[in-house]
Amino acid sequence: MKQQSDAFVFFGATGDLAFKQIFPALQGLIKNEGFTLPIIGVAKAGWNLDQFKARAKDSLEQHGGIDQQAFDKMMNQLRYVDGDYDDLATFTELRKQLGDSKHPLHYLAIPPSFFATVAENLAKSGCAENARVVVEKPFGRDLSSAKELSDTLHKFFPEESIYRIDHYLGKEPVQNILYTRFANPIFEPIWNRDYIRCIQITMAEDFGVQDRGKFYDGVGALLDVVQNHMLQVTANLTMDPPTGEEHDAARDRKSELLRAIRPLTADSIVRGQYDGYRQVPGVAPDSAIETFVAVKLEIDSWRWAGVPIYIRAGKMLPVTCTEAFVEFKRPPRETFGEIVPSTSSHIRFRVSPDIAIGLGTRVKIPGERMVGHDVELNLHSEISKDMPPYERLLGDASRGNSESFSRQDLVEAQWRIVEPVLGNVTPFYSYTPGTWGPEEAKSLIGDHGPWMDPVKSEDK
Ligand code: BG6
Repeated sequence: MKQQSDAFVFFGATGDLAFKQIFPALQGLIKNEGFTLPIIGVAKAGWNLDQFKARAKDSLEQHGGIDQQAFDKMMNQLRYVDGDYDDLATFTELRKQLGDSKHPLHYLAIPPSFFATVAENLAKSGCAENARVVVEKPFGRDLSSAKELSDTLHKFFPEESIYRIDHYLGKEPVQNILYTRFANPIFEPIWNRDYIRCIQITMAEDFGVQDRGKFYDGVGALLDVVQNHMLQVTANLTMDPPTGEEHDAARDRKSELLRAIRPLTADSIVRGQYDGYRQVPGVAPDSAIETFVAVKLEIDSWRWAGVPIYIRAGKMLPVTCTEAFVEFKRPPRETFGEIVPSTSSHIRFRVSPDIAIGLGTRVKIPGERMVGHDVELNLHSEISKDMPPYERLLGDASRGNSESFSRQDLVEAQWRIVEPVLGNVTPFYSYTPGTWGPEEAKSLIGDHGPWMDPVKSEDK
């Protein structure tokens, strides 16, 4: 049984992430899981506790609404420490506020450039002892900086106490991919190169980079969502079944899978930038950063040799939707002489905005002729009302359940895949907002196409 954390500390408490995600997650934990830990916000804003509480109220009013009972409890649980992260006095005060807490959880909702200073001061002030630390992406900017970051954290926290958040891992339908695969014996025998022709994953957003121009222009679509979220979805779709029930069992299999993915080359990536992106505040007027990316992955394993995996992700596309489409091979010959689309037989995992699992099959159209049409059997479908990822993940971290967090070897394996195409080394193509990215993405998928464009739920 893992030790339950006995205090929840979050750095960056007056920041954007806290405002949009952390306060709502904490209210949810109090309401749904009886979360009673003292909650200590740390930031440098020149605020007092009342101002901090007012911020929490404002956050909840704008993000999800106030649940009066849980909110009242939260107000009693909140504490606040104001101070610089490079000033040991801030941490001495934190230690005081922690009272007799022996197993605090420290959530670093701050830019990675502060991790080293905060981790060191946590250690110097006695706050790091028997503590857990939760960190936010980006975990580095490339393989070597990811290693450096983890070396820094390891000076003060052992790997098993470090929880790296990839919020996609906290999403119910992403977990459901694994569940569906391994809870039903019918899938495993066909989940390989003998039966699967290719896999497509689309993460589309119908909005631009909004007010995040400065951040986004230093990152781009490949690092923002493919290197992390999409590779995690890929791993859930393709990893081997975990053996044993240890928290690390699934992550071990995932790590093997990610290490078997061939690093990208210039031929396996198409980058796009929507018209108008360079006018977004914070974006360089001559920016070469991509807001759309399509990649072709290949997995060097017996299970997956020769089965390409196509991923595309982008801003300003026609819809907001994340979906994975696993396409089965056609029979060796079409017995009824029909021309059947290659996508006829498939499984579709819809991750957002609604949740669905659909099994595509061909059925006969009633009548004399042996002709059919494609139907999709709805295995599961719901309007997304699952537990928000941050609530799930912060609850897991406080209980010491690390299964849904990334691990250093996973992070490094993910960097190894994208490393050769970092730094805008491939050209980018413009696309018109509201379209499915540049035409060049079609050539990437070639005969395995067409890309399966997800449709809005209400249009289905
Ligand atoms: C974040 C990216 O990690 O994920 C954003 O930085 C992106 O650019 C977001 O919009 C998407 O997450 P979700 O949960 O809305 O699909």
